[in-house]
Amino acid sequence: MLRNTTGGYGAVAIAFHWTMAVLLLVLVGLGLYMTGLEQNDPSLFPLYQLHKSLGLAALALAVLRLGWRTVNPSPRLPQTMPRLEKAAAHLGHAGLYALMLAIPLSGWLMVSASPWGIPTVFFNLFNVPHLPVPDALGEKAAAEALLKEVHEVLGWFLIVLVGLHAAAALKHHFISRDTVLRRMTSLKPVAETR
Ligand code: HEM
Ligand code: HEM
Repeated sequence: MLRNTTGGYGAVAIAFHWTMAVLLLVLVGLGLYMTGLEQNDPSLFPLYQLHKSLGLAALALAVLRLGWRTVNPSPRLPQTMPRLEKAAAHLGHAGLYALMLAIPLSGWLMVSASPWGIPTVFFNLFNVPHLPVPDALGEKAAAEALLKEVHEVLGWFLIVLVGLHAAAALKHHFISRDTVLRRMTSLKPVAETR
């Protein structure tokens, strides 16, 4: 029940998937909202701190999720799926995992590179150390600006890839009528095709 089987996802993978899906969508929404606020808006500082804390929590969850996935492989895709579609699904999932690591890391590097040296206080509990920013990025302010761009562009990649991913899941359910969406929403064992 906790572990995946060859035909379905277990409770841990399902919990990781939907917790992180909600968390990442909240992070994108919060990121876009807070960067649109006026510089003197009093909610700016607490919202940035909240975004950074949630973002670092998402990074920790992504690492744990990938760890769990290495000891607990995912179910096989339905045999009815053409090879090209299977390859696209695997590529899409790899891209989503890469973004789950790269986006928060670019954010953490960005705040670490900032010449302002604003601390990141994890949910008001403790200070998160700044990461060493590689010298290759040159001056600190330039590095911060570059990492800001990277963080934003990767955020847009995530929006596009999640859109495609969700569309593919709905296509599986309503058009191909296979078990792909149901096995990510239910623990009940499902036959491979309807
Ligand atoms: C998966 C996790 C994360 C997601 C999906 C995410 C997403 C975003 C998005 C969409 C924006 C708005 C980009 C823009 O329009 O400029 C943003 C801004 C920002 N994020 Fe994140 N973020 C994540 C994690 C982090 C982390 C871990 C940190 C720092 C520890 C961070 C720090 C920031 C900062 C400081 C900004 C504002 C940049 C500016 O002022 O232009 N983010 N984030
Ligand atoms: C931020 C949002 C999301 C992210 C980052 C995400 C990420 C992922 C990843 C990485 C996997 C592969 C799991 C593995 O086998 O290791 C996966 C599987 C899956 N996701 Fe999402 N997902 C998101 C939202 C959604 C949404 C909105 C839906 C449904 C409309 C969905 C439906 C599915 C399904 C059905 C699978 C199982 C695919 C299979 O059986 O191989 N996901 N997701």
